[in-house]
Amino acid sequence: MKLTVVQDYDQMSKKAASLVAGKLKEKKDLVLGLATGSTPEGMYANLVKMYREGHLDFSLVTTFNLDEYVDLCPQHPQSYHTYMYKHLFDHINIKPENINIPCYTKNNLSASDACRDYDQKIVQTGGIDLQVLGIGVNGHIGFNEPASSLPISTHLVELASETIEANSRFFNSIEQVPRRALTMGLGPIMHAGLILLLASGGSKAHALKESFSGLVTTEVPASLLQLHPNVVVIVDRDAASLL
Ligand code: PGA
Repeated sequence: MKLTVVQDYDQMSKKAASLVAGKLKEKKDLVLGLATGSTPEGMYANLVKMYREGHLDFSLVTTFNLDEYVDLCPQHPQSYHTYMYKHLFDHINIKPENINIPCYTKNNLSASDACRDYDQKIVQTGGIDLQVLGIGVNGHIGFNEPASSLPISTHLVELASETIEANSRFFNSIEQVPRRALTMGLGPIMHAGLILLLASGGSKAHALKESFSGLVTTEVPASLLQLHPNVVVIVDRDAASLL
């Protein structure tokens, strides 16, 4: 694991964007695994800026998002579909058919069929080259919540109470936060060529400490990243305070 500690959120976002940009320049048909949430917003803003300045070309890029709420339609303002178009896809030249976000409401599939199709599509593209991850306060990655065992494949998950509480800041009340999501499993994440884990702020310090303690446990899903040979962690000073 290569750890870089930067001053603040802005520095984290710039460094993350320049890593993604570098990989995209090396491989025009990059397969990107993407995350949502507050953490990668600044990285996306920097990528959009680089694209507008003519430095990046997304025309051959394929993306796979980590997760999406179940019980919210894709058009909902707080869906991860909406998030991704607002922060990235609406501003770059990615082909719509190359965008993948887990969802079963669109095609009237069952959740298990949608998950199977998602995993198959990841395999058909040759797997993820670069997977961007945030981390939950409980150590989750994607919506792989702490548990005694974790599915390898994309699956339907009941969100942990800490996640519902953390995500309630995006809704008018905690009751409105969806309780279920589809999430990529640990399989495609751990098979990614490179994993970029981002974290900002003191609220992530404990989860990071637990994740890189030298012990591996599904009760701290991000701790499994210690087994991946190519992980870059970019965190700000507050998030790194317990490392
Ligand atoms: P955040 O979420 O970026 O909004 O803090 C990260 C996560 O829950 O994985």
